[in-house]
Amino acid sequence: MKKLLLITTLLLLGYVAQAQSRGENYDETKVPVYTLPDPLICENGEAVTTTGQWETVRRPEILRLFSTQMYGVTPNESIPVDYRLLDEKTDALAGKATCKQIGLRFSKNGKETEAILLLYLPNAIKGKVPVFLSYNFMGNQSLDTDENILVSPGLKFVKSTDDPSMARGFQKDRWPVEMIIDAGFGVATMCYHDIFPDKAELKDESILRLFSDYRQTKDNSEAWQAIGGWAWGLSRIMDYLEQEEKINAEQVALMGHSRQGKASLWAGVQDERFAIVISNNSGCGGAAISKRRYGETFRIMTTSFPHWLCKAAEQYADQEDKLPFDQHELIALVAPRPVYIASAKEDRWADPKGEFLAGVLAGPVYELYGYKGLQTTEMPDLNRPIMNRIGYHIRPGKHDVTDIDWQNYIRFAQLHFGLKGK
Ligand code: GCU
Repeated sequence: MKKLLLITTLLLLGYVAQAQSRGENYDETKVPVYTLPDPLICENGEAVTTTGQWETVRRPEILRLFSTQMYGVTPNESIPVDYRLLDEKTDALAGKATCKQIGLRFSKNGKETEAILLLYLPNAIKGKVPVFLSYNFMGNQSLDTDENILVSPGLKFVKSTDDPSMARGFQKDRWPVEMIIDAGFGVATMCYHDIFPDKAELKDESILRLFSDYRQTKDNSEAWQAIGGWAWGLSRIMDYLEQEEKINAEQVALMGHSRQGKASLWAGVQDERFAIVISNNSGCGGAAISKRRYGETFRIMTTSFPHWLCKAAEQYADQEDKLPFDQHELIALVAPRPVYIASAKEDRWADPKGEFLAGVLAGPVYELYGYKGLQTTEMPDLNRPIMNRIGYHIRPGKHDVTDIDWQNYIRFAQLHFGLKGK
């Protein structure tokens, strides 16, 4: 009887696993043979030997490919923003921090979008402080049970108020704010749904609709979509951080998890005000090498999330070998600023090895600037972070943001901002 039960359970588990599989490969021996473009060889075949050549010729070439073939072109039209202090509490976290909530109202062409930025600043530090900026997934109120935190406006498009994930402090585990404050850093966060509510059918509610040519261009193959919009939003938050007198705007470390890891890399590449860029488990379309086709692939991503990349990216579904670029070059576009890639052992969907390789292969561009890349081609053991100008770690566990990740980001930022750790 017991045996029967076991077999039935195994069959059932097998069935569930099969039902959930989207044809992804997790077998290293089935990774196709692939050739990656060399970030230091220009389209005309010339080798890049100076930083000047990189900055004026090769970097723009690669940037253009990512804009037109992957994330879509970011318009340079400016959208007026009105910032309003909605609330300020100087004794948050038992007096350790000042908590500010800033309302952002974007308005143009008779349309408006509301967003709320949540800011924690350490009280113990008198001067300007470095900051970690990162979007949250479940609303500002998901960071803490504090009743004072306003519910993020973008949530109304994607969740009903009685959804269990709307509970205060729902993602507290991912946000060790006190630990970050104790280390002398501020925390700036906003819900990503405020900028582009994350559903394909909600594009008309997104920030994109405020742009003058939205109607005419929204279906163009190179038009930006959600990832482009989220990246743009991060730059607008940066505009605010530059005005905040307690913040050292030259020490803003941008961190993004998963789909926000993709958006943060894209934001960090386009906006050089971000002093450090951190990708946490960003996977396909983030740090992972696409041509490996391990875990999530272009086909899976562009069909499950047709509103993330530009339409031109769809031509590479099952055709990754035709990609004229790969994600190591996205990492390289952050150079010479410090960049950090983090993986999790059980997060095979995001292809930890592919994420690591992108870090390795971005190295030559950092070396051109005289900085050290990862300096190894061997993946490090679990919890053995590498912290050169390019950083990397793989930790045990699943797709998530944990204290271990944050501890490494804090160390990495202290190292590069020249701050003393405790
Ligand atoms: C899905 C998606 C990934 C993404 C992840 C997330 O798993 O396939 O590309 O990174 O969601 O954002 O959590």
